[in-house]
Amino acid sequence: MTITKKRRVKVKVKGNIKAIEWCGSYVKLIDQTKLPYEYTTVKIDSYDKMGMAIKDMLVRGAPAIGVSAAFGVVLGAMSLADEQSWDDFYFKLLKIGNYLKSTRPTAVNLKWAVDIQMKLLESYKDKTIKQAVEALEENAIKILNDDISINKNIGDNGVTVMPKSAKILTHCNAGSLATAGYGTALGVVRSAFTNDPTIQVYANETRPRQQGARLTVWECVQENIPVTLVTDGMCGYLMSKSMIDVVVVGADRIAANGDAANKIGTFTVAIAAKAFDIPFYVAAPLSTIDTSIESGEEIPIEERCKEEITHINGKLVCPDCVNVFNPGFDVTPADYITGIITEVGILKPDYKKSIKDVF
Ligand code: MRU
Repeated sequence: MTITKKRRVKVKVKGNIKAIEWCGSYVKLIDQTKLPYEYTTVKIDSYDKMGMAIKDMLVRGAPAIGVSAAFGVVLGAMSLADEQSWDDFYFKLLKIGNYLKSTRPTAVNLKWAVDIQMKLLESYKDKTIKQAVEALEENAIKILNDDISINKNIGDNGVTVMPKSAKILTHCNAGSLATAGYGTALGVVRSAFTNDPTIQVYANETRPRQQGARLTVWECVQENIPVTLVTDGMCGYLMSKSMIDVVVVGADRIAANGDAANKIGTFTVAIAAKAFDIPFYVAAPLSTIDTSIESGEEIPIEERCKEEITHINGKLVCPDCVNVFNPGFDVTPADYITGIITEVGILKPDYKKSIKDVF
């Protein structure tokens, strides 16, 4: 097989990975579509650019798109700062919020963050528009900072269920890039590595967009966390050879009964883990739990374009007349989940009860 080395991978960046940075009047996003070949940032200075960045997955991962949408509302509010009446300001911003929520359907964090901003806005209806804009900005910064500390708590809680010298399998990217920093599933990995440098990570490639190969591996390499890249279909084999002790994945939305949506392929990993009696953990902040839906059947699953499957690095890899089905997520039923690692502790079955207890 011929391997071309034309595209070089830039491995190390200085300091912590910051997927989202607020710069006073604009947001700086790492363009995750270019990683790991190029480490570049883009300036997002309007709500519609933020909407496009979420849609086109320059920023992705449930908490990261939530934080980004909170700043999208701020950018929208700033663009409306000269409105003469509160009602005009409010209803135009409501429309912007609805647009931001529509950019990706599965991760509930997007809705969660926009709704928090709109609720705050309502409490400012007796104040000036300028005061409301400042409050929205302050609140978005708080959402970003809170996300990092929440993830560190998830990491601390997750460490308690990682065996010594754990061989941890993860799917997709639930790391710094998918959050405001530190990560959820990869936050557990980070904390586990700090606690015990003998751990090993197995990262599923994560077809079709390769978030595992492009992003999770890249993050691990930044911090010298031992990582082995495998393809999605290998998990049963690895488990049969005792190469995996525990699985930790992130989530995009968790229903009130504990069913959890995450990147397509997660459910297959969960089935294999159950067959081999390997603990399967979902690591997610409480903001990913959608108590308004009873079960995973109600979670909307994003379908993405066929080119994500028919092309690799812009090159067609199959007859172009083929039918393609490309759901971006699947739902792992609660029965397959050993525990949900959150910032307030590890929720255990019966999830209907343990989730109700924390809300
Ligand atoms: O399509 P993506 O890359 O946004 O999907 C991301 C995932 O499925 C993550 O595992 C999930 O959002 C959790 S991120 C902490």
